[in-house]
Amino acid sequence: MTDQNWDQYSTYLQLDKVLDAQTPWSGTPGASDFSHDEMLFIIFHQTYELWFKQILFELDDVQTRFTRNIVDDRDIQPIVARLNRVVEIFKVLERQIDVLETMLPQDFIDFRDSLRTASGFQSLQFRLIETRLGLKRDDRLLFNHCPYDRDYAAPSQEAIRTAEAQTTLHDQLDAWLARTPFVDFGGYKFWEEYRKSVHKMLDDKEALVRKSMKDDALQRELDGIERGRQKFDSIFDKKSTGWRLSDRALQAALFISIYRTEPMLQGPATLLSLVMDIDALLSRWRYRHALMVQRMMGLSVGTGGSTGYSYLMQTLEQHRIFKDLFALSTYLIPAAARPTLPDDLSREMGYRYTAKAS
Ligand code: HEM
Repeated sequence: MTDQNWDQYSTYLQLDKVLDAQTPWSGTPGASDFSHDEMLFIIFHQTYELWFKQILFELDDVQTRFTRNIVDDRDIQPIVARLNRVVEIFKVLERQIDVLETMLPQDFIDFRDSLRTASGFQSLQFRLIETRLGLKRDDRLLFNHCPYDRDYAAPSQEAIRTAEAQTTLHDQLDAWLARTPFVDFGGYKFWEEYRKSVHKMLDDKEALVRKSMKDDALQRELDGIERGRQKFDSIFDKKSTGWRLSDRALQAALFISIYRTEPMLQGPATLLSLVMDIDALLSRWRYRHALMVQRMMGLSVGTGGSTGYSYLMQTLEQHRIFKDLFALSTYLIPAAARPTLPDDLSREMGYRYTAKAS
């Protein structure tokens, strides 16, 4: 490689800027007050911010494709590819914590005061990811009785408000699911058929246990079946509240999960699965981060001013975004009990090309 080629590498990547951006606040290397591990701490956070930038870049593309009124089937593959990349990045972010944990709590305490009030809590890109995915301001934990961004710099507050004003991935997914055509196809109404199948499944089960059991064991089984009936009635009769997805979107998500092997539904099923992966990985990252925080600073308050570990553990449940997709599994039934699709609908969801007999 010639000198010129070498220069192009560092020019292209702007390495002069990137590699000149690590300035420990505890002192300069070699000085008596310098903390060796602060370099790791800085590089660690910087790599996170770079990955956050890539996640936002992928979300830009995914959300643009979802903005179209009718999402073209050809858009599903790129959306799936981008979301899959986001999933893999989140896996790296979680695993990366292993590297930071090579820093001992004592080594962290040595430079912690020099961070002053700097905290990952102030990461704008992290807030944009949460917001763009669908975490709503009203659903967030209060931070010292105030909105979390109260003390952010004005440009960051503005960027968050702008993101909040846009349609989130959660809501785009809701609208896209609600438009799924096959749930209501000709005379076929999936929801009605599903209700009938569930009732038949539970009635058959009841008849069986009445035949084969008695006394306490029978009563226990009957109670279980009754609980099953009530559970299903709560979605069929819309008695249950607390769902964030619309009724129509929930029905479509269930339909897609149940008939996921139909060719037309394979892409949408993968898409839903990836969105759940993102939700789960974000929670896993929150948990790993909270454990690391407890290891580093015990029960001390954070540099950002929160209760530290206990605040972070609360976000784990409260800041979930796609919980409905997980809760839907409550309403799955065995394949043998599910409604059979009408032939014309099944054909509609199949591959159109049939090889000519030779
Ligand atoms: C020794 C390492 C770390 C410690 C002790 C630590 C500590 C904390 C604490 C105590 C909080 C709660 C807010 C506060 O009071 O400051 C917090 C929040 C946060 N930290 Fe860290 N952190 C560490 C590493 C990281 C890293 C590497 C990242 C990656 C960017 C990060 C990102 C965040 C984020 C995004 C929040 C906000 C979480 C939320 O509000 O849901 N932290 N951190």
